Amino acid sequence: MSRTVIHGGLVVTASDEIHADVLIEGGRIAALAAHGTDAATSWSADRRIDATGMYVLPGGVDAHTHMEMPFGGTYAADTFETGTRAAAWGGTTTIVDFAIQTMGRSLREGLDTWHAKADARCAVDYGFHMILSDVNESSLKEMDRLVAEGVTSFKLFMAYPGVFYSDDGRILRAMQRASGNGGLVMMHAENGIAIDVLVEQALAEGRTDPRYHGDVRKVALEAEATHRAVQLARVAGAPLYVVHVSADEAVDEIAAARHKGLPVFGETCPQYLFLSTDNLAEPGFEGAKYVCSTPLRPREHQEVLWRGLRNNELQVVSTDHCPFCFSGQKEMGRGDFSKIPNGMPGVEHRMDLLHQAVVDGHLSRRRWVEIACASPARMFGLYPKKGTIAPGADADVVIYDPGAEQTISAETHHMAVDYSAYEGRRVTGQVRTVLSRGVPVIEDRAYVGHAGHGTYLPRGTCQYL
Ligand code: URP
Ligand code: ZN
Ligand code: ZN
Repeated sequence: MSRTVIHGGLVVTASDEIHADVLIEGGRIAALAAHGTDAATSWSADRRIDATGMYVLPGGVDAHTHMEMPFGGTYAADTFETGTRAAAWGGTTTIVDFAIQTMGRSLREGLDTWHAKADARCAVDYGFHMILSDVNESSLKEMDRLVAEGVTSFKLFMAYPGVFYSDDGRILRAMQRASGNGGLVMMHAENGIAIDVLVEQALAEGRTDPRYHGDVRKVALEAEATHRAVQLARVAGAPLYVVHVSADEAVDEIAAARHKGLPVFGETCPQYLFLSTDNLAEPGFEGAKYVCSTPLRPREHQEVLWRGLRNNELQVVSTDHCPFCFSGQKEMGRGDFSKIPNGMPGVEHRMDLLHQAVVDGHLSRRRWVEIACASPARMFGLYPKKGTIAPGADADVVIYDPGAEQTISAETHHMAVDYSAYEGRRVTGQVRTVLSRGVPVIEDRAYVGHAGHGTYLPRGTCQYL
């Protein structure tokens, strides 16, 4: 059994910061011991990694990605191969992607299709949520089977009528089913029916630029849908996880629900924490790069999101990585913002941007690890295999240089997309080395992994309840 020792670093988990050496045996964390102790110095090893001056972190868990997603008349540009490689470069060693049920087809067929896309292609481990597009007797029954086999969370949409949209009755039925089988409903909370009216009116009045995407997807319509989702979950007696929360009033709805003791959780994404409607309004169709839903909001919302992350009103930061190239994809919406494919790249930079938030004083180091590693693992039934550094956990470990300076750019990133949403942004902190189940994937900033190393992760039910 191969043995690796990581020595000299500061081990940071959601609960602790300890100057400890880490012993890895057969792909798992075997032991931690304080630097210089007899225990640590007695370890023999095949490989020793010097982490002096570095943080030793659990690998990031990005619980919201869309590799190769068919959407808006095109496909998300990252494949499972390129997207998981980029994830590894950024210190993310687990993704949970969304398999999609096609209208009129079974969940099983959708899941099989996503397995075929991902199988033998991933650089890091991966699991699946299921998008429920067609709630009916048969798909409700299938939910039970999926939960039993490790697909334990289901995304429903109050947005995108005619595509993924479910009405309140269908949502309630799915939530009732989840309350019985232990599944977690993930909600895209925007009132899509009302938004479509506003889209039609904006286009008829000649308001066609990307910035109007943000205008029509109103804060009130995110907050209203969030409120409605909470009440439906309450009636069903089901837990609820609201994805990509962007608006202050939506945070308020989640906080109010949690204050009542309801099992309601919220996720936000780096784009809502670092970007704003100013980006959507960039001239010359540049704003299309920032079109995603929920949309970017005015900058004032960011402080409420940071506060929500500190207070645990929001528990998770995922990326909603859904990249479309500017050239040929985002451009499909020139002259009509509603035709711009919705989604942004981000899987590579979540850990770094959140570390910058530590540097800037928004988060503590442990909270950084909690919202990016431990909580998503707990939320989606992967803990403590993923999300922490403790004996028995998978040896998904990031050696992180907190003092390194880098400039984010499409020139240097590894995602298969022709722009960066953070072009030119200077951040402090960078991944040095990444292990996935004890195997180096990034070594001293060189990619040494391979497609197919990443394995499929059947998941347990939510451990955050
Ligand atoms: O704009 C987004 N968020 N695209 C991906 C699909 C979704 O709604 O998460
Ligand atoms: Zn969504
Ligand atoms: Zn998404």
